[in-house]
Amino acid sequence: MSQPKTILITGGAGFIGSHVIRLFVHKYPQYKIVNLDKLTYAGNLENIRDVEKASNYEFVKGDIQDKNFLTKLFEEKNITDVLHLAAESHVDRSISGPMDFIMTNIVGTANLLEAARNYWKDENHIFYHISTDEVYGSLGAEGFFEETTAYDPRSPYSASKASSDHLVRAYHHTYKLPVKISNCSNNYGSHQFPEKLIPLMINNIKHNKPLPVYGKGENVRDWLWVEDHARAIDVIFHTGKIGETYNIGGWNEWTNIALVKFLCQIMDRKLNRAAGESEKLISYVTDRAGHDLRYAIDATKIKNELGWMPSIKFEEGLEKTVDWYLQNENWVNAITSGDYQKYYEAHYKG
Ligand code: NAD
Ligand code: TYD
Repeated sequence: MSQPKTILITGGAGFIGSHVIRLFVHKYPQYKIVNLDKLTYAGNLENIRDVEKASNYEFVKGDIQDKNFLTKLFEEKNITDVLHLAAESHVDRSISGPMDFIMTNIVGTANLLEAARNYWKDENHIFYHISTDEVYGSLGAEGFFEETTAYDPRSPYSASKASSDHLVRAYHHTYKLPVKISNCSNNYGSHQFPEKLIPLMINNIKHNKPLPVYGKGENVRDWLWVEDHARAIDVIFHTGKIGETYNIGGWNEWTNIALVKFLCQIMDRKLNRAAGESEKLISYVTDRAGHDLRYAIDATKIKNELGWMPSIKFEEGLEKTVDWYLQNENWVNAITSGDYQKYYEAHYKG
């Protein structure tokens, strides 16, 4: 019989990580889940309050940049598998300060790979790296990213994620480390830090603040409900093939301006505003440097091979997301004060 699993989930206090933690802790009481998170500005223990007392769950505060700490952690907890989500994740921050991205996303991933390579003595393990579709670069009006699309990262964020993907594959080819990788499109849903497009716009609409749309708002993103991403991670972890990559997407492309207008309509209704009132807040601002035009995922492989599909329509998911942000004012207020205010003022000045 194989040994019981102790799964190290990194970044479990962040947006996607908290949804993955919730799913794994509740669905798999037979696994021990160790959540390792540095609690950066993006990490928030409030995101996982509901699981903290579960008997199969433990939180460890720590930094994946610290290799010695990871070596000890693998030994002390007898880590059998890794779901690696910890990262610096915001493109705009990677433009103003790339070094944190290089240190956490590249060096941190290398440290985790080394800890796993040194501790694991056989192939009965999984090192699963959660990555982004941004590694593939930018599309024109046509086409989709496939698993075989050549990497062409263009922001410090996507370059750091591409580097970490390459390292994970290199450890598989060189050391036979049992790895899996998935590259997912833009996620949305509850608990997303309000520096990202959707929660930022919800918060600004609510407070009658300008809605900063970069450039002409014509950039296209493919949006996926975060709980569908967590389900895909579950499916890949349990049934995906070792050494394989899976693209995850929502078949749900929107230009930024169409999405912001749609959010304005939902918010007008929720806040009892006259139709069209929130749209007046739209303000076109200086474009992001090197702004990728379009991301679009071909998720046929995970659909055909593993039977995964998005479960809810965007309209429904967005409605739920808006409701969550409106009902969780304290969560939003706690993280949009202090340092975030300074970031916001510096980033959107002028
Ligand atoms: P997030 O920024 O919300 O959370 C990141 C988490 O990692 C935080 O809890 C933070 O405290 C932690 N962390 C950061 N540096 C760390 C370090 N050095 N050591 C330990 N913990 C550290 O990010 P997210 O949006 O939840 O993204 C999670 C993962 O999914 C990332 O790897 C990201 O690249 C990937 N991804 C995100 C999206 C998206 O739309 N958000 C899409 C595809 C892939
Ligand atoms: P974001 O949520 O930062 O995700 P990513 O850059 O990883 O795709 O941004 C989504 C899109 O929204 C992207 O094209 C940039 C744009 N955007 C704005 O127009 N205004 C904003 O204030 C933000 C944060 C993003």
